[in-house]
Amino acid sequence: MIEKLNHVAIAVPDIEKASDLYRDVLGAEVTEAVDLPDHGVTVVFVNLQNTKIELLQPFGDSSPIISFLNKNSAGGVHHLCYEVKDIIAARDKLTVKGMRVLGSGNPATGAHGKPVLFLHPRDFCGTLIELEQV
Ligand code: CO
Repeated sequence: MIEKLNHVAIAVPDIEKASDLYRDVLGAEVTEAVDLPDHGVTVVFVNLQNTKIELLQPFGDSSPIISFLNKNSAGGVHHLCYEVKDIIAARDKLTVKGMRVLGSGNPATGAHGKPVLFLHPRDFCGTLIELEQV
């Protein structure tokens, strides 16, 4: 069902500092920061040869990553995103097995403009999982 690792998302308190770290210290290719008000985040992508790192900073007061950063003040790994071919088929197979989908249970449009769903971390080894249809 799951295919490639699309990205690893890291929540950070200061996206400029995090971008500088990945670009200047680690020597990676880093995109410009983009505000995504609908998602409550500012995002930068670090493009690696085999996957991406998504740096996330809260945007606005109701950002979904504020509580995570309150618990992890230096930042931390927030979620993993796996690619799937058919997100509805994947969701239906997972819910039959008792796995919990967050929110309405219907796909939303993610940071890449593609349908995504999030799966409950308690069902997946303590890790928030994003599925993205590619
Ligand atoms: Co993501």
